Amino acid sequence: MKRKTAVITGASAGIGMELAPLFAARGYDLILVARRGELLQKLADDLGRMYAITANFIVMDLAQPSAAAELWRAIAAIAPDIDVLVNNAGVGDAGDFAAEAPELIERMLHLNIATLTMLTRFVLPGMVARGHGKILNVASLAGFQPGGPGMAVYFASKSYVLSFSRGIRRELRGSGVSVTALCPGPTRSGFEAAARAQHMRLFHWRKPMEARDVAHAGFEGMQRRCGVVVPGLFNRLLAFGPRIDFAGIALEVNRFLLAARR
Ligand SMILES: NC(=O)c1ccc[n+]([C@@H]2O[C@H](COP(=O)([O-])OP(=O)(O)OC[C@H]3O[C@@H](n4cnc5c(N)ncnc54)[C@H](OP(=O)(O)O)[C@@H]3O)[C@@H](O)[C@H]2O)c1
Repeated sequence: MKRKTAVITGASAGIGMELAPLFAARGYDLILVARRGELLQKLADDLGRMYAITANFIVMDLAQPSAAAELWRAIAAIAPDIDVLVNNAGVGDAGDFAAEAPELIERMLHLNIATLTMLTRFVLPGMVARGHGKILNVASLAGFQPGGPGMAVYFASKSYVLSFSRGIRRELRGSGVSVTALCPGPTRSGFEAAARAQHMRLFHWRKPMEARDVAHAGFEGMQRRCGVVVPGLFNRLLAFGPRIDFAGIALEVNRFLLAARR
């Protein structure tokens, strides 16, 4: 029987690194992508040995404008039929927008939005033609928020990922291909340091979730073909609480109370 292949971007650390063994344990061959080749090499070697799978890796800077097309060519040379795409690589950058380095903003937009979108575009036609496939896009709790002063571009980029994922998920209904948006809250990983966000209250007012738990929730949600996965009860309250229609609930309660007694 043909083995399944999963591509995971940002697999050298954090959530992506924790997702890799979950796929390997279910017999997926892996293509791991990030910039730090030595970390990818070690992970690929370890998982290949532990789970008797084939783990390849591609070292690439996905914040470059042409990264998605280049990566797709490299993936196709290894395994043209991809069963799962995990768009996980992403960065934040703390600071007031007006003072942020323009090149950092541009790299974040390429990595968080353009590469994720275009890689999905390249992978999808094959999945649709085969009638099966899964895409897991790592968005964020930030994607539900109206905005993030002090991290405005990052928040907006994750709103994009959430909206994009929901949009194509609906388009793909009935195709056998599912799209899941994973929306973690603060998570212990390299993210905080890379985003220069260690000083932010957000990462200190509550204990961050472990990357392993977040990966597990995302993996299980993707397997069940859920649309949106928010790991952690508190995070779910933050994501969906503001959307509770209290006026609508009060209206129904009043309708019940003001109706004739039976
Ligand atoms: N941690 C949180 O609090 C949190 C909360 C919500 C959402 N998220 C999202 O979760 C995803 C994973 O982040 P994480 O928390 O696991 O952070 P992390 O530990 O910093 O991992 C980020 C991964 O992305 C890769 N990456 C970063 N820039 C890249 C580039 N230019 N080209 C290729 N790969 C690149 C990194 O590998 P290399 O450095 O080796 O390239 C690393 O493997 C991101 O999309 C992030 O926005 C995180």
